Amino acid sequence: MSTIFVTASGTEIGKTFVTCALIHQLRNQGYSVRALKPVATGVTSDTVDTSDSGILLRTLGRPIDAEQVASVSPWRFREPLSPDMAAEREGRAIPFYELVAFCREDAGEDVTLIEGIGGVMVPLDPRHTVLDWIAALEVPALLVTGSYLGTLSHTLTAAGMLRARNVELAGIVVNESEAQPVAPEETADVLSRFEANAPVRVVGRLDAPESAPDLLPLLDPYLPHSRRPAP
Ligand SMILES: Nc1ncnc2c1ncn2[C@@H]1O[C@H](COP(=O)(O)OP(=O)(O)OP(=O)(O)O)[C@@H](O)[C@H]1O
Ligand SMILES: [Mg+2]
Repeated sequence: MSTIFVTASGTEIGKTFVTCALIHQLRNQGYSVRALKPVATGVTSDTVDTSDSGILLRTLGRPIDAEQVASVSPWRFREPLSPDMAAEREGRAIPFYELVAFCREDAGEDVTLIEGIGGVMVPLDPRHTVLDWIAALEVPALLVTGSYLGTLSHTLTAAGMLRARNVELAGIVVNESEAQPVAPEETADVLSRFEANAPVRVVGRLDAPESAPDLLPLLDPYLPHSRRPAP
């Protein structure tokens, strides 16, 4: 089983969109996929359908019922806040080592995609951040970023933090922001110069994740190649 952690420079950047694109692309190549959003905030019975958990389940072709939602997102919180705050509002805490163990479970799929929450340095509890979670899993990370003004510093900061903790950076996806002063390709060029070892890909504004350009070259070094069709 291969596991990839999809993280970002911040919230609402496109992690779910890119994860859904990867689900489609991996399945088109014959891989079976498990997609998780283990920690989700702002999830209520009214919002579950449009939540990340709901979107991932729909993309996987699974029903959005209580059992399936719990299997994709065991730690769900009502308030649309950072996980530490949302958990605290409910008098709960995210059990860090249980979270890590859950992500390590082998469900028998070829590839597990884990969508993080918010950006790299979002706190999960008073002691742990998303970065601690990725580092504990010892899996490669895909960094999704935008092309908005300010993204260069946010992205390079996030990449630097990942590197400082020896997290392998599978690549950077510049997911075009709605409002942007430059073309996303220009942002990608600059990022490539500063993060020379990380492949950078651009995803433009699209109608649906199915239309995304091929992102599998970023995952290629980590995929179980025996499952790929012979060239
Ligand atoms: N390339 C794109 N083209 C068009 N719409 C996009 C694109 N990327 C993201 N979106 C839309 O922007 C919004 C935010 O994207 P998304 O939900 O993937 O972000 P996220 O990083 O997963 O956010 P969160 O931190 O809440 O998990 C969604 O409505 C999504 O459909
Ligand atoms: Mg999301």
